[in-house]
Amino acid sequence: MTNPYRRISRVTMLLFGGIIFLSTFSDSRAESRWYDQALVEKGKSLFLQNCASCHGLDASGTADWKKTDANGNFPPPPLNGTGHAWHHSISVFKTTIRQGGIRLGGTMPPFEAILNDSDMDAIISFFQSKWSDEIYEGWERRYPSTETQSMAPAEESNSQPDTQAAEMTALLKQRLGGQNISPPVESPIDGIYYVSFGTKFGYLIEDGRYLLMGNLIDLKNGINLTERELGKAVVTELGKVALSDRIIYPAFGEEKAILSVFTDTSCPYCQKMHLELPKLQEAGISVHYLPYPRGSTQGPGYQSLRQVWCAKDRANAMTIAKRNRGKASAKLPAGDCPGADMVDRGYQIGNKVGVTGTPSLFKSNGEKIIGYVPYKDLIPRVVGNL
Ligand code: HEC
Repeated sequence: MTNPYRRISRVTMLLFGGIIFLSTFSDSRAESRWYDQALVEKGKSLFLQNCASCHGLDASGTADWKKTDANGNFPPPPLNGTGHAWHHSISVFKTTIRQGGIRLGGTMPPFEAILNDSDMDAIISFFQSKWSDEIYEGWERRYPSTETQSMAPAEESNSQPDTQAAEMTALLKQRLGGQNISPPVESPIDGIYYVSFGTKFGYLIEDGRYLLMGNLIDLKNGINLTERELGKAVVTELGKVALSDRIIYPAFGEEKAILSVFTDTSCPYCQKMHLELPKLQEAGISVHYLPYPRGSTQGPGYQSLRQVWCAKDRANAMTIAKRNRGKASAKLPAGDCPGADMVDRGYQIGNKVGVTGTPSLFKSNGEKIIGYVPYKDLIPRVVGNL
């Protein structure tokens, strides 16, 4: 059986989530190409029935297949060798056909209830028959004998981890519609890598053969490693924001903690929280405001946030703007100074760290607290030890 599980239990860690199964394959070796003409014929009719409506009659896909449409979805790519498909092993093809792309954020439907294994062999042989010899040979070099590869002990299959992980990343990229996917990074567990896309983490197991989505928890030490990694990414991102770009309400007396708050002048709960800032300051919490205009440049608070970031006394301007419920105020300067660009940047930074609404609060370890929390409940969460 597969050994990742053995390893996991050895280090007392658990991975929660869904396994996306990316490998079961047995290939038959052939002299030139692995299929014969009869299989291609069978594949052709199955392809026309099931795939051609999207991928085209001759598997040529959509011309502009690398560009997402208005909904951020990728169009059906070519399978005829002109696209990226030849980077995939047969097992990856089968997984794609079986499961489709919907579960990974794409739009291709699953065919597992419609096509059996030999149907899929036939279909794959059909679109591979469109491949030039050059493409086919490149693919064959990449996957010389997938069968022996999948039976090989983990140590030996380590020879290709980078290609495999890179391939996985490419596949994920295509399926996840252009989201920002990190290169694979080693996790604390042998042979397991993690990749992040946006603010989600996934774990690649066995050189990228499996992808596991969910939380990695160190039971021995009681730490959610996924959350900790996410927190680190947030800390790095927030650390890039200069102090002069934030509006800081310093702790009264000794500073026990810093709380970063993405805020919008037009948001009622931000206005409510603003009135409670002195309570937080009294408790030793320095509050660092970052602008997050809900609705971006079209948002109701956008102009007034710009006004605030142009004011000499921003802390006071924020109070005025929030009292004015985010409407542009004659009491404040126009929002056209260079400093106001921070409002646009704040929006981008917020999106990077997973802000979807305001207020969004981040402790200095990167832990996120979503939404308004009354100061009495908030203080212990921020100054308490984790
Ligand atoms: C409703 C449209 C639709 C149908 C039907 C469809 N596909 Fe797809 N296919 C897509 C889209 C769109 C993608 C890109 C990933 C995504 O969005 O899910 C894709 C991706 C793929 C990929 C990955 C290609 C690569 O370069 O990584 C393969 C392989 C594939 N399809 C094969 C098939 C086969 C075989 C069939 C028929 C059994 C089929 N598709 C039916 C829309 C479709």
